[in-house]
Amino acid sequence: MTELILDHISYKYRKAEKDVLKDVNCRFSGGEMAAVTGPSGSGKTTLLSILAGLDEPSGGTVQKDGQDVLVMDRDLWRRKEVSVIFQSFQLFPLLTVLENVMFPLELNGVSGKEAAGHAKENLKLVGIAPEKFRRFPANLSGGEQQRVAIARSLSGGAKILLADEPTGNLDEENTENIISVFRRLAHEMGYCVVVVTHDPEIAAVSDKVWQMKDGKLMCQK
Ligand SMILES: Nc1ncnc2c1ncn2[C@@H]1O[C@H](COP(=O)(O)OP(=O)(O)OP(=O)(O)O)[C@@H](O)[C@H]1O
Ligand SMILES: [Mg+2]
Repeated sequence: MTELILDHISYKYRKAEKDVLKDVNCRFSGGEMAAVTGPSGSGKTTLLSILAGLDEPSGGTVQKDGQDVLVMDRDLWRRKEVSVIFQSFQLFPLLTVLENVMFPLELNGVSGKEAAGHAKENLKLVGIAPEKFRRFPANLSGGEQQRVAIARSLSGGAKILLADEPTGNLDEENTENIISVFRRLAHEMGYCVVVVTHDPEIAAVSDKVWQMKDGKLMCQK
């Protein structure tokens, strides 16, 4: 199963004086949901952008299953290996629910009919009922939109799911729902799930908890 290792990672924004990440060492594993907590501005989103291949660290290495990710083709990494889920869902507003989830499959050359089949399976996995497949995202609740965004992530085929405050805009019931989807993906399907969150209840049900403080990451559980 996937093993993602950050080894002595440091990061400094251009023109900034101080490192935002300072010698970060950690491991995220397939089959587990990990939470990353910590105060605002401590570097959580920066850490996710490095994992997502959106940014390169100033020092250190990221390895996936023993392979140095930083020397891999970054487009391929972003397209095939990792998927990012945001607080604001970021669905395509002019595509239906089903079309949103088919999109990454079609981008990877899967034919329309096959893509629709896979997309429906992914929507089922996250608990979206078929009568909602033809709706536009605006006609779904926030929790449903986030589940569609997760289904779309699954369509990209990535086994590493990175979520930045995925429940930040949701009420308690929808938050529980999303977290149980993530837990199922990790525990039953082997996904490596990393959730950045301020919510202590999410941390409490995570398999691992990491705390970011002043650019350092400490394992708490
Ligand atoms: N593009 C940028 N250029 C310069 N500094 C930045 C940039 N983006 C973020 N920072 C700074 O880097 C530090 C870490 O930011 P980051 O967004 O990673 O924090 P965070 O832990 O995700 O915070 P929050 O919980 O508020 O989302 C902050 O001090 C922030 O001001
Ligand atoms: Mg952030």
